[in-house]
Amino acid sequence: MAALKARERAVAPYSKFKVGAALLTREGKIISGANVESASYGLTCCAERVALFKALTEGHKHFVAIAVVARAPGAPMPCGACRQLLAEYASQAQIWVADSLLPRKIKEFSVQELLPAAFVTVP
Ligand code: THU
Repeated sequence: MAALKARERAVAPYSKFKVGAALLTREGKIISGANVESASYGLTCCAERVALFKALTEGHKHFVAIAVVARAPGAPMPCGACRQLLAEYASQAQIWVADSLLPRKIKEFSVQELLPAAFVTVP
């Protein structure tokens, strides 16, 4: 529900594809975010990373889950860049995804499932 609410704050004038994300911490706190696009398209930041960067820079370290909501048949799946950051900073989090039209129909994945054999440390 926090991700659905966060989606309303998406800044997506180019793609019009609004995504909301919400992280649940071990302590029960919810930190949400939404995608922010740029006229220089490549600078766009996904909802998942906005939420994660907010949470990390507010001092949160332990995440139980991240919910991601967008108007996508089936459900929106996190992009590769977000999967990488989740593997590094929220490896234990469950990933809950849902279509905003059917927010109660949640699909659940683990980070390991979405990004096996992740690169997580600089050798
Ligand atoms: N987007 C996200 O916010 N999360 C994803 O997992 C995939 C894509 C955003 C980025 C961009 O603003 C728009 O969706 C279209 O790619």
